[in-house]
Amino acid sequence: MQRGKRSASYETSPNIALVKYWGVRDPARALPYNSSLSVTLDRLRTRTRVEFSAELDRDTLTLNGRPAAPAATAAVSALLDRVRNAARTTDRARVVSRNNFPTASGLASSASGFAALAGAATAAAGLRFSPQRLSQLARFGSGSACRSIFGGFVEWRAGRRPDGRDCYARPLYPARHWPQLVDVVALVAGAPEKSVRSAVAMQATITTSPEYARRLRELPRRLAGIRRAIGRRDAEALFPLVMEECDSFRLVCETTRPSLDYLTAASREVLAAVRALNAEAGRPVAAYTHDAGAHVHVFTLEREARRVRERLRAIAGVERTLLLHAGAGGRRV
Ligand code: PMV
Repeated sequence: MQRGKRSASYETSPNIALVKYWGVRDPARALPYNSSLSVTLDRLRTRTRVEFSAELDRDTLTLNGRPAAPAATAAVSALLDRVRNAARTTDRARVVSRNNFPTASGLASSASGFAALAGAATAAAGLRFSPQRLSQLARFGSGSACRSIFGGFVEWRAGRRPDGRDCYARPLYPARHWPQLVDVVALVAGAPEKSVRSAVAMQATITTSPEYARRLRELPRRLAGIRRAIGRRDAEALFPLVMEECDSFRLVCETTRPSLDYLTAASREVLAAVRALNAEAGRPVAAYTHDAGAHVHVFTLEREARRVRERLRAIAGVERTLLLHAGAGGRRV
């Protein structure tokens, strides 16, 4: 890498998993137990600028205009070390990152954050990584980040090889594949900040939840069904599978010792409202899903979106709703 200052910026969006990544089989290579599938969202963006400089004596991270906590800066430094190794440099970096949505609240800021960091840091270091290689780098920051490099509907294949060469994310369908599919996000009041990082929480699930092995056995069938339903734009096939998957994720969390409970009473009311909407319609018109956070994503079709949104807004404790669609992946800015 050239001496002096080199900088680049990269922007991308969070993704919401329809099939959840939860459990690492090889921490050194960041290899997951199961394949996962997500939708990269529009409107929510993370923009990150990385500047390498020989004059800095340590990495710094500014997050939404404020100096970040030491743990967050250390996680960023660890990913930067991989970039420095590849670029054969020891220069430290100044990282400035901004989200246009709340951080660490179940809107997957770590996914877009580490994807944007990987994109900006490699470009600033003069490395020309393919999207696939960028995605393989991003997952060392946060597993789900490997999916946020790509737009639309994305699958992260767990692979089987011990060396991890067959473990990578790939775009399945672009965002324009299914423009009628909408994600009504119910932002709940008082969503707590995460007390345990997902990467730590999921390993506790593996060792303590009696439900985890069954989840892994069920997943290939569920993943295939979800992939097929998206391919056919078949909402009535997709929605029950998305809820089944979310329920399975929640069950392994709740049966972890100590138990992992990410929801608030309002989140649970959102789940109940979606079940009620489907029962009233006599067919699946919506599907809920949530990650390791309290906000709930409700998928429905454009023509039902108004009704779904009004129903969710009527719940005390739902502060706001956002109407999102599948969106673009990462790009240099
Ligand atoms: O990428 P991490 O380490 O923040 O873990 C993400 C875990 C879930 O969001 C719950 C599931 C997923 O696949 O995004």
